Amino acid sequence: MNTVPSLPTVSITGFGSYAPKKVLTNFDLEKMVDTTNAWIVERTGIQERHIAEPDECTSDMGTIAAQRAMEKANVKPEEIDLIIVATATPDMPFPSTACWIQKKIGATRAAAFDITAACSGFLYCLAIAQQFIQTQAYRTILIVGSEKLSSITNWNDRNTCVLFGDAAGAVILQNQPGFANILINQLWSDGRQSEILKLPAGGTQCPTTIETLQQGLNYMQMSGREVFKIAINTMVEAIKTTLTKANLSLSDISYVIPHQANIRIIQAIAEKLNLPIEKFHVNIQYYGNTSSASIPLALDQILPMKKFKTGDKILLVAFGGGLTWACTILSI
Ligand code: UT7
Repeated sequence: MNTVPSLPTVSITGFGSYAPKKVLTNFDLEKMVDTTNAWIVERTGIQERHIAEPDECTSDMGTIAAQRAMEKANVKPEEIDLIIVATATPDMPFPSTACWIQKKIGATRAAAFDITAACSGFLYCLAIAQQFIQTQAYRTILIVGSEKLSSITNWNDRNTCVLFGDAAGAVILQNQPGFANILINQLWSDGRQSEILKLPAGGTQCPTTIETLQQGLNYMQMSGREVFKIAINTMVEAIKTTLTKANLSLSDISYVIPHQANIRIIQAIAEKLNLPIEKFHVNIQYYGNTSSASIPLALDQILPMKKFKTGDKILLVAFGGGLTWACTILSI
């Protein structure tokens, strides 16, 4: 009988995160736009978010998260083969934010590139990196999710400005024992829905002009209600499909790390799956929606807690602009 050779294991051997010092509370926002702390807490679960300094860019935040992950994994800059950065707020269109981080950490041997998958970006990176390690093309890969969403937020628009925050998270992936192994990655997108969550101006479809700036087209736009509904159903289906593909059931999952966009989305997913909310990581109250940084930030919070035992499964699920969505299962 022919046996399929098992693929090399891909492990998270280091993790780190960073959030800027400055905290903007809902009460601060009450002074900026027509909103209230009560509305924001009730409708989103957010109480405060971190905001980068004007001179602090996406690669600065990503560099600190990366250095923390490298220290944890005991990896030197010259050992890194590849850097992949997920961001919707790159330092500039090119060079990539990954190249800037490469320069700042001194990873002179690495190849480096960015990917754009909005809030699903970090899970897209995990899937890409997994392929490179399984094919043995690379041994040590640095993945970073870093966002300065405050730079694309319209601070006069109460529909969006209360939602987002700045942060970065990073992991090192290697084929050697680590804190968690990747069991499965699943990615999806639906470009037909590209209009409902986007940053209209600044690219080739709508280059920046004085008019686009006057119309605020250089800021993020979202059809909140529409995105809300699609996000819940899509993530529930993504979880079910991924479990089936991995030959697992919901009872095999010890903990869920969902993208942090709205506490009501997380609660609705828990309800639809009939899982207790305690199984879900929730830190949205302190960070808001940090897009591609939200899942690595959560990993940096839960992996050191050592509350998991060998064999426990952690499910990661994300949804964002594109539309894009993704689901990953890790095994401790
Ligand atoms: O990370 C990527 C994916 N993103 C998401 O998943 C976000 C998905 N969407 C959401 O989380 C929610 O739709 C929002 C938090 C964006 C909005 O919550 P909502 O419960 O869907 O509110 P809504 O947009 O339906 O607005 C309800 C009311 C409106 O007033 P009227 O028209 O009923 O009089 C809004 O004008 O709330 C008003 N409103 C606010 N009021 C006080 C909207 N924003 C605010 C605000 N403060 N900040």
